[in-house]
Amino acid sequence: MNQDEMKRAVAIAAVEMILPKLERQSIIGVGTGSTANFFIDALAKHRDEFAGAVASSEATAARLRQHDIEVYDLNSVSQLEFYIDGADEFDNGFNLIKGGGAALTREKIVAAVAKKFICIVDETKKVDVLGRFPLPIEVIPMARSYVGRQLAALEGQPAYREGVVTDNGNIIIDLHDVEILDPKVFERHLNNIVGVVTNGLFANRGADVILMGTPQGVQTLKRD
Ligand code: 5RP
Repeated sequence: MNQDEMKRAVAIAAVEMILPKLERQSIIGVGTGSTANFFIDALAKHRDEFAGAVASSEATAARLRQHDIEVYDLNSVSQLEFYIDGADEFDNGFNLIKGGGAALTREKIVAAVAKKFICIVDETKKVDVLGRFPLPIEVIPMARSYVGRQLAALEGQPAYREGVVTDNGNIIIDLHDVEILDPKVFERHLNNIVGVVTNGLFANRGADVILMGTPQGVQTLKRD
């Protein structure tokens, strides 16, 4: 199985996992990226079995609508049973790095509302210590240089992601070469820098279930 085949397999496994629990009025949260796109495509044939979805990005909203899946504003929804999304990296503690597609802030908001976060990844994303993948940080544009200096004083190498504007009108700084030994503390620390909207560590609200694609098939990892 190549990486795309593993992504498709975990996407189908996620649909199979949530379908028995969906009711006609259920609304689910849907993430962003190529694995999330496989999930949307697999979900489409069941669109009459649930009410619709909250999207974590404009791109995801567009893809949901292409499949005639109703897209809801999060403010009109009091509860989401599931949030299904990919990740750029994950560790044994169900901590994640997300934001490779620059959708981290909306992803984090939708994940916060959902009762259960099912993360769909292939095995290439697994690490012992987070930080091999540059950590995305969404920043208010006028704070770019200030936040860059604050990050440089920590550890790692901040790099402005040229040409990227988030759905919220902000910029992304990627923090390279950082070993994240305590993801929960580092997540909170970065969020305390003025001008940071949020960062791509999903540790204080990590995944509840990880569906990991391997060449041998999909493994289901659950928190104890
Ligand atoms: C987007 C994300 C994605 O979940 C992450 O980048 C993984 O993407 P892909 O499924 O394409 O590998 O966080 O902001």
